Amino acid sequence: MSNKPLRAGGSHARIAVIPGDGIGKEVTPVAVNIIKAATAKHHRPMEFVEFDWGADKFLTEHISLPDGAVEMLRDEFDAILFGALGDPRVPSNQHAADILLGLRFKLDLFVNVRPTELFHERFTPLKDRVCNDIRLIVFRENTEGIYVGAGGFFKKGTADEVATQEDINSRKGVERTIRYAFDYARAHKLHRLCMSDKSNAMIFAGDLWQRVFKSLRTEYPEIESRHLYIDTLAMELVRDPRQFDVIVTNNLFGDIISDLAAELAGGLGLAPSGNIHPGQTSLFEPVHGSAPNIAGKGIANPFGSVLAAGMMLEFLGWHDEAHLLKQSVKAALHDNVTTPDLHGSKVTLEVAEWLAHYVSKHA
Ligand SMILES: NC(=O)c1ccc[n+]([C@@H]2O[C@H](COP(=O)([O-])OP(=O)(O)OC[C@H]3O[C@@H](n4cnc5c(N)ncnc54)[C@H](O)[C@@H]3O)[C@@H](O)[C@H]2O)c1
Repeated sequence: MSNKPLRAGGSHARIAVIPGDGIGKEVTPVAVNIIKAATAKHHRPMEFVEFDWGADKFLTEHISLPDGAVEMLRDEFDAILFGALGDPRVPSNQHAADILLGLRFKLDLFVNVRPTELFHERFTPLKDRVCNDIRLIVFRENTEGIYVGAGGFFKKGTADEVATQEDINSRKGVERTIRYAFDYARAHKLHRLCMSDKSNAMIFAGDLWQRVFKSLRTEYPEIESRHLYIDTLAMELVRDPRQFDVIVTNNLFGDIISDLAAELAGGLGLAPSGNIHPGQTSLFEPVHGSAPNIAGKGIANPFGSVLAAGMMLEFLGWHDEAHLLKQSVKAALHDNVTTPDLHGSKVTLEVAEWLAHYVSKHA
């Protein structure tokens, strides 16, 4: 097989697998096996190449993201399946920042896609909600905002210390993120889009988001679009999540609001995400971290990783296989084949076997 990737819709794909640290190493192989089971019968050859980037390599070889890694991933792979990074032996989290933020920024993965869907009523902390009440998707600007690291200290360590943290918003960055959300809504026949900011208090960045939103919405007249301040959005999401199909917002607000949304549908263990640049190598990962408190115990919940793998297949244009992965998770949850974090009694390997069997049977 050649080293050149075939982009979305092609007949085979090259996937870079980065399990990372802690439970990332436990859940990622589960996702890879299920992809293999789902794609085998459809004659969709996939090549998986695993990379050992993470805390162990950082501690022994002082390498986080190796030289040339970004170019290699960009030129030779269709997508990246990522686990999690974070290890108590690296208190600075330097390797995680280098690898994960490095890939997001250097591959220009400008939109973070976080779907939330209630798969079973018992997973929501909200009263009297049924599955159809919670089905929404958050699009978060992923390469700008307050996370770019612009700022500094003045008189650090003194009583007069000052720290600044700047919120960077480019017109290009805002526009491509909002447009991506509108395009997604149109393609998936989702009728409601909410843009959220804090333009009443953050007046410069907010003004830019407002102007871009108002200009773009005219191109999508069939979509009912509205604006909510981020604090109001947080309240409304809890009060009545049925109002929302698509939410688009900046990096910081998207980080927070997508965690809130995830919690409405069962929490971290069930939340997948995609870091996407359309048409280019993109990265898919569960939302959770490396969970050092349970790493090595064999009880990590693999659903977030399997759902992230499903998003990756969708990105590759392999819709049937993507659907099958999601169905397998739904079926497992329905039959209570779950790990202890979801009040189940199974270990990771038992859930993995069950999912693989389901997928092979229904492929
Ligand atoms: N994308 C990433 O790689 C990412 C994201 C978040 C945190 N982190 C890192 O992970 C490390 C731990 O962070 P944290 O404890 O704040 O967050 P975490 O997501 O790792 O864990 C939070 C809690 O949820 C539980 N949990 C998480 N995922 C689970 C799963 N799949 N199955 C069962 N239980 C699960 C954990 O046991 C823990 O109690 C830190 O180093 C942090 O920086 C990495």
